Amino acid sequence: MKRFKPEEARHFAARLATAAGVPPSDAEILARSLVDADLHGVSTHGVSRLNIYLQRIQKGLIDPKAELVVERGFGSVLTLDASNGLGQVQAVKALGVLIPLAKTNGVAVATINHSQHFGALSYYCNLAADEGMVLLAMTNCEPAMSPEGGYEAFFGTNPIAASFPTGKGFHVKIDLATSVVARGNVIAASKKNEAIPQGWALDRQGQPTTDAKEALLGTILTMAGHKGYALALMVEVFSSILSGAAVGPAIGSMYKDLDRPQNVGHFFCLLNIAAFLDPVEFRQRIDETIDRLKAGKRRPDVDEILVPGERSARNAALNALRGIVISDETLAELAQWSKDLQVPFDCAEVKS
Ligand SMILES: NC(=O)c1ccc[n+]([C@@H]2O[C@H](COP(=O)([O-])OP(=O)(O)OC[C@H]3O[C@@H](n4cnc5c(N)ncnc54)[C@H](O)[C@@H]3O)[C@@H](O)[C@H]2O)c1
Repeated sequence: MKRFKPEEARHFAARLATAAGVPPSDAEILARSLVDADLHGVSTHGVSRLNIYLQRIQKGLIDPKAELVVERGFGSVLTLDASNGLGQVQAVKALGVLIPLAKTNGVAVATINHSQHFGALSYYCNLAADEGMVLLAMTNCEPAMSPEGGYEAFFGTNPIAASFPTGKGFHVKIDLATSVVARGNVIAASKKNEAIPQGWALDRQGQPTTDAKEALLGTILTMAGHKGYALALMVEVFSSILSGAAVGPAIGSMYKDLDRPQNVGHFFCLLNIAAFLDPVEFRQRIDETIDRLKAGKRRPDVDEILVPGERSARNAALNALRGIVISDETLAELAQWSKDLQVPFDCAEVKS
């Protein structure tokens, strides 16, 4: 594992994507979103995903030049088709369409179908919060979880997210998979041949397992049992049933099904805070709430109560200075792409 300057990693990732056929401005969107995840400490959704995206582009499973198509417009409700393009690129473009609509109408909602895995949801939610808006985002993803009581993968880890602007120098960021942990953690453990904790997953026979590779073949457990199952189903309905994207197991596995596009669906509901109340009052009210949460009584072993988004904002500030971490496995993959696409890996390691 080594550390690199985020700007250098971003330029390299963008040049690789460009060399793979992504238009330069779209490659920049992709690279920016991936490095942002690494900056915030969500390296499971950072440049480590570039390898599989590039593989899928090369196999013709992702169209690097896809347009975002407005299939239908109904007031400020849009039905968007990502045309099998890169999820991150199409999601940022979708937000670009929704923001002016929400400025005018107070709210703008979109379903997006024919998309792909699009990384950490909070990236899009934070962009909206930068604009004084709240984006409620959901996505379905490749099968990983079963309904409560089953052990056959049906749902993805179907995350849900929203970020709220504050006057505290960071956005309150709620961004969570409806599984016990995001699948990226199991993939990372599998790549390192490490065990996963008890309580994360079941094997192919429905038995608890700590073997990451078995877990990837079996199922990841839902967050909070039946409640996670219920939330995962809600995310599935918004993201795929409403959008026309693939439902449950019909979603192609990003890693295993290298013969068909994924057809992931996303759901974006964008709320303009100014349509509800004075944004200054909103910030005052959320800041007071943060202060009250942090001032509450702490358990004996706890130094500080955090609000969601606080730690990742601190990580981002720190990693901007000391560099983002890239694992040895990801470095090996990037070195191979550097050779294959003839893009020099010109990122200097940051030594502590
Ligand atoms: N695109 C996809 O298909 C997909 C699928 C699943 C997950 N993901 C992404 O994976 C990422 C990780 O998801 P996760 O479920 O592992 O998240 P997590 O468990 O790390 O965090 C969940 C939430 O808890 C908050 N939090 C964590 N520790 C806290 C603390 N001590 N105090 C206060 N708040 C705290 C975080 O800010 C976050 O809002 C997310 O960015 C998610 O969008 C993407």
